[in-house]
Amino acid sequence: MNPTTELKIKQLSEKINHYNTQYYQNHLSEISDEEFDKLLAELQQLEKQHPQYAQADSPTQRVGGTVAKEFVQVRHRYPMLSLSNTYSAEELQEFDERVAKGLEQQPYQYICEMKYDGVAISLIYENGNLTKAITRGDGEQGDDVTANVRTIKTVPLRVVAADLPAYFEVRGEIYLPRESFDKINAEIEEENVMRAKQGRKTLTPLANPRNAASGTIKMLDSGVVAKRNLACFVYDLLGENLPFRTHEESLQALKKWQFNVFDDNRKVSNIGDAIAYIAEWETKRYELPLDTDGVVVKLNDKAQREQLGFTSKSPRWAIAYKYKAENEPTILESVTYQVGRTGAVTPVANLKPVRLAGTTVKRATLHNANEIARLDLHEGDTVFVEKSGEIIPKITGVDKTKRKPNAQPILYVTHCPECATLLVRNEGEAIFFCPNEKGCPPQIKTKIEHYVSRKAMNIDSVGGKTVEALFEKKLLRTVADLYKLTAEQIRSLDGFKETSTNNLLKGIENSKQQPFKNVLFGLGIRFVGETVAEKLADFFKNIDNLAKASIEELQQAPEIGERIAESIVAWFQDADNQQLIAELKQAGLQFATTDTPKVILGNQLVGKTFVISGTFKSFGREELKDLIEQYGGKVLSGVSGKLNFLVAGNEAGSSKLEKAQKAGVAIISEAEFKAMIE
Ligand code: IVH
Repeated sequence: MNPTTELKIKQLSEKINHYNTQYYQNHLSEISDEEFDKLLAELQQLEKQHPQYAQADSPTQRVGGTVAKEFVQVRHRYPMLSLSNTYSAEELQEFDERVAKGLEQQPYQYICEMKYDGVAISLIYENGNLTKAITRGDGEQGDDVTANVRTIKTVPLRVVAADLPAYFEVRGEIYLPRESFDKINAEIEEENVMRAKQGRKTLTPLANPRNAASGTIKMLDSGVVAKRNLACFVYDLLGENLPFRTHEESLQALKKWQFNVFDDNRKVSNIGDAIAYIAEWETKRYELPLDTDGVVVKLNDKAQREQLGFTSKSPRWAIAYKYKAENEPTILESVTYQVGRTGAVTPVANLKPVRLAGTTVKRATLHNANEIARLDLHEGDTVFVEKSGEIIPKITGVDKTKRKPNAQPILYVTHCPECATLLVRNEGEAIFFCPNEKGCPPQIKTKIEHYVSRKAMNIDSVGGKTVEALFEKKLLRTVADLYKLTAEQIRSLDGFKETSTNNLLKGIENSKQQPFKNVLFGLGIRFVGETVAEKLADFFKNIDNLAKASIEELQQAPEIGERIAESIVAWFQDADNQQLIAELKQAGLQFATTDTPKVILGNQLVGKTFVISGTFKSFGREELKDLIEQYGGKVLSGVSGKLNFLVAGNEAGSSKLEKAQKAGVAIISEAEFKAMIE
């Protein structure tokens, strides 16, 4: 026993917790970041030396550090229900009439709250300590994400108060503040500039704060979660025999206990005032630090709630009013056209920048020629822009009263904006195509990008910017040109030095070992995706058999229909494509399936099935796949009940993880996989 160390740890914890509360709950910085970090480091050090004295609510838990293998499923003591939704004031009135009828003349009040657009969470406190944090899951049971939630500064780790119930649950919504979301995406963009310069693959930015929050809370490494700056608003308190009569009292208690409760909830005595609150917050909500998608109107009195009860899915005493997607007018400045890999030409509206749902919108998709005609778009039109699913904006209508009398209608281009070829449209299709497959620059470049992509030839030393630069220098016209590049030519590109040049050439050289199915997929034959390429490679064994197959013969292969067969025959009939194959053969690519058995390294994984998700430190995904097979295991493409293991790396797909957990599949880390084959 060392009373001084124990006391020191306790005092330091209390001190840091105090600064945390002041900062995160009361927005006060009482010490500098540097001083704060110093105190935290001191505490971490002491706890490391004397773990027996670490406090249950130690602020060091906020830094994360646990790496989970998988999330354990926990049943909710009180199910997490959903709310019935409405978009109309009339339906709110009808809800109110149902409430009034159910309460038979009693007076009643509502509490109006914002509907936070994040991830629902249930926080369990026992004797004042946060003991569990569970996601909603299917409402009946969810994932134990306690280690991750402990890193969220606005969630108290310990509640100290007189008469605190021994057990209670707090329900709330975890979110990624819009500011943090923008910061993460700015960092990704910055990183991408560097990656593009080096010709490396770029990272995908986060789609929206809600997805980012839900992906983050399902990360296995809580150290990474701690860096993401998640936050939490709470909106409900549950437990047996709680001393609160109303929702208002519950919220007041939660606030007193240092939970993050929205300051502008409002108690109203009639539905008209609730509707006024909704109207007031329709635009004010964009000033909040998080996305919100509506207002929840809840009966205040708990006894009255009980009287009304629940339907099978939702309470009869609450309703969510959802705001319609925000619609803002702005000016259409121009329409430009993007040409994709297959030659599809997509129109894009360039707009006078407008604020919409908390972000600035400059462009909107117009889908196709029919859409332009449907909207009857004219130059300089005032158009209404809406964020569909809050991600890709679209134009929903035109304010024709604002149209200038001499404004000309927007006519869909007749010729390719990139190569001036006359566009064509297949019967029954809405999209126009540029048929100049071999001479149209964006088509050539995107074909090469497809060829080098991970699922095809996996030449990750060649990124979009490198393809662009090589194309500009006329060094790259077909994928076969990749194999003719010299070190001197690459060094002549901006930003390429000795190492990057060697890496690039090494990547190209290695691609010669990619299996036939990958080469086939990389060629970009219309309708020949990854799976079709694999089936064709398996069935025809080599490129010569495939090239001479007739439409009928092609249809003998599994899953090959007429449309695919016709496309393949047309592709191989083309003289340029025949030349391309000859050059690629010359370069030494794999044009036949290797029936020779794979190298066998061991039998540890015999009879076991695996799915791979995410990225790994010690190997690429293909390498991992090979390893599994070399040790006798089998790699499957999707998660199902039959699967044995999901190998989850960094940024593993949350839907795969969720599915695996539901199906009771073991989720293993990279380290655990390594241990299996050792
Ligand atoms: S009350 C019995 N209040 O909306 C249901 N829910 O459809 C109690 N949500 O996933 C829910 N903000 O996480 C309530 N102020 C708020 C809310 C809120 C967001 C979410 C909740 C749930 C969904 C309900």
